[in-house]
Amino acid sequence: MILKIPATSANLGPGFDCIGMALDLYNFVEFHELNEGMLEIIVEKEGSTELPTDHNNLLFKAYKSVFEYLNKPVMGIHLKLINNIPLSRGLGSSAAAVVGGVLVANKILGEPLTKEELLKLAVKIEGHPDNVAPALFGGIVLSGSNGDQVFYRKISPGVMLKCSVLIPDFHLSTKKARSVLPKMISLQDAIFNVGRMGLLVDALHSENYEMLNIAIEDKLHQPYRSKLIPGLDDIFKLAKELNLLGVSISGAGPTVIVFHKDGDQDKVKKLQEVFKNYNIDSNLVHLNPI
Ligand code: HSE
Repeated sequence: MILKIPATSANLGPGFDCIGMALDLYNFVEFHELNEGMLEIIVEKEGSTELPTDHNNLLFKAYKSVFEYLNKPVMGIHLKLINNIPLSRGLGSSAAAVVGGVLVANKILGEPLTKEELLKLAVKIEGHPDNVAPALFGGIVLSGSNGDQVFYRKISPGVMLKCSVLIPDFHLSTKKARSVLPKMISLQDAIFNVGRMGLLVDALHSENYEMLNIAIEDKLHQPYRSKLIPGLDDIFKLAKELNLLGVSISGAGPTVIVFHKDGDQDKVKKLQEVFKNYNIDSNLVHLNPI
């Protein structure tokens, strides 16, 4: 059997840890059952040299968590991971692994768990719901958790919402990108983000992207993370000058996600030039929200 799990872009500016969007870039997991205690993992493409192929593999850990949750012995498994989502770039590669793992286990077991239960298990492993929720449900997903339960609402992306990602050729771990964030923020910055988040959700719902370039602004994480992504401030400035719909760090970065209209590809290329000015090569990929 084979499953596909999409890449995701979390935060979308102001929605730190609370919103994410699935994109049409996929990892594939081919799997079949083996005798108990056996584990075979093959990784192809992204992560083929970096990812562990033993019990430390993240997808396997997520797989195992379903059996533990159900108090069942872990079934042996053969996993072939065909990864297209680049690692540590802010496009949800770890969420895709976690979601892949819980989905494979659920399939093997005859689907005893609902997607909501799988989400809960996935959030436990990932730590926050913003990538795993859209990886599991598709679409743009708003989410929150009270520690016990995970609440979510899905918004279907409008057909006019096009996006491109600029993937710089360096890795940035989520751990490092979170380590630069302050423990406390000012009331003023909180108000700034709450207001932007309201505008963002309205724009996504109404498919009226007129104010998206304001709605996508953020004061909770991007100003702190910009020092880890050379050229980011200039990219944000240029995106406004070029009247692109909106730009933000994708997840924890370093990828930058750009929302634009059809036919704005040349403008997006100009943003890529900014990275070049900072001696950073990047890959420009046009992706549609799914
Ligand atoms: N919301 C998370 C962050 C996404 O920005 O740190 C990355 O896992």
